[in-house]
Amino acid sequence: MKLWIPGPTQVRPEILAECARPMIGHRSDAMAKLHDRIDPHLRLAFGLGEGSRSQVAVHTCSATGLMEASLHGVGRRVLCVVNGSFSKRWAEIAQILGLEVVVLKKAFGEAASPAEIDAALSDRGPFDALTLVSNETSTGVRTPLAGVASVLRRHSQVLWLVDVVSYLAGMPVDFDTHGIDFAFAGTQKALALPPGLTVFCASEKYLERARRAKRPSYYLDAVRTLDGHVERKTPATPCIPLYFALAKQLEDISSGALLPAAEQSARGAAAWSARYGVHQRMQQATERWAARHGLSMIPAPEHRSWTVACIKQGAFEVSRLLAELKQRGHTISNGYGDLKDVSFRIGHMGDHTEAELTELLAATDEALAALAVRA
Ligand SMILES: Cc1ncc(COP(=O)(O)O)c(C=O)c1O
Repeated sequence: MKLWIPGPTQVRPEILAECARPMIGHRSDAMAKLHDRIDPHLRLAFGLGEGSRSQVAVHTCSATGLMEASLHGVGRRVLCVVNGSFSKRWAEIAQILGLEVVVLKKAFGEAASPAEIDAALSDRGPFDALTLVSNETSTGVRTPLAGVASVLRRHSQVLWLVDVVSYLAGMPVDFDTHGIDFAFAGTQKALALPPGLTVFCASEKYLERARRAKRPSYYLDAVRTLDGHVERKTPATPCIPLYFALAKQLEDISSGALLPAAEQSARGAAAWSARYGVHQRMQQATERWAARHGLSMIPAPEHRSWTVACIKQGAFEVSRLLAELKQRGHTISNGYGDLKDVSFRIGHMGDHTEAELTELLAATDEALAALAVRA
């Protein structure tokens, strides 16, 4: 069975094998070396250049934990862009933490424009931080980061916190160039690992402010986790099997080994770029397939994600399409949250290949034909 839900996504057998390695101590030299294997590649994933002073780290928790951790110590007033289920969750977490939350609400399936974000920051400010989910997995909406970055340059007191959960390793993140202050991603999405780890990156500006502030958490204190990562002394016992898997996966991506044959000579940043290209082509192929069936995508063309396609339901029940596809060896997903019953989603992220997508779309053709015959 091939897993095409928008996370957790299909994990390669080689990666699962890494999780079965004999255990090592988390304070051992072997563990320090494992950290050393991870960091340079993680820096490429976040688009950090040589000499960047932003810091990367890994935490043993799901991405929701980092939504919470990101908010400790940023200040009191937060503007939360809410345009789907996960951005809504982040705003709820900020409220639970007692922050003063202002919501910039968009319909599920839409993205906030840079002008709308600019207006909210100016008219409803001052703010200490802005939260943005760059790729709303619930709706397949991508918010292009460059436009928002140009707005944030005019609001230099605002820390920009970005959820790149289903974006990182599927689309380019330019953390420093875009002036992002904090970004995080769970490993079960475009990094194609089992769930359980979150990787993150923090700017000097974020760390300076957060270090001075009261941060009422131990386990979900991003500063403590980051310092522990840098010193190779995690504050608590990490999920070591997943660290093995993360190191191997990052090395394989940077070496070009996971790319189509014609692109396998790419190395380092070029290999990561080529990986994004594969995902963009998969998005385009899925879109062409949907158009052939008269199906429309939920997001506007300029906001379509490269890692998850969210397609409006046609003249068939989504649950029946999913069942037909299961019989053909593929699991895709229904919609999420507000769009649960009116859309379906294909997570063409992680290590899925273009050839595999062609197989999935052919199976979906068959499934739709079977449904039409029965109707
Ligand atoms: C965009 C986004 N943010 C946050 C989360 C929460 O991640 P987790 O379930 O790992 O806590 C998800 C999960 O699907 C997500 O897609």
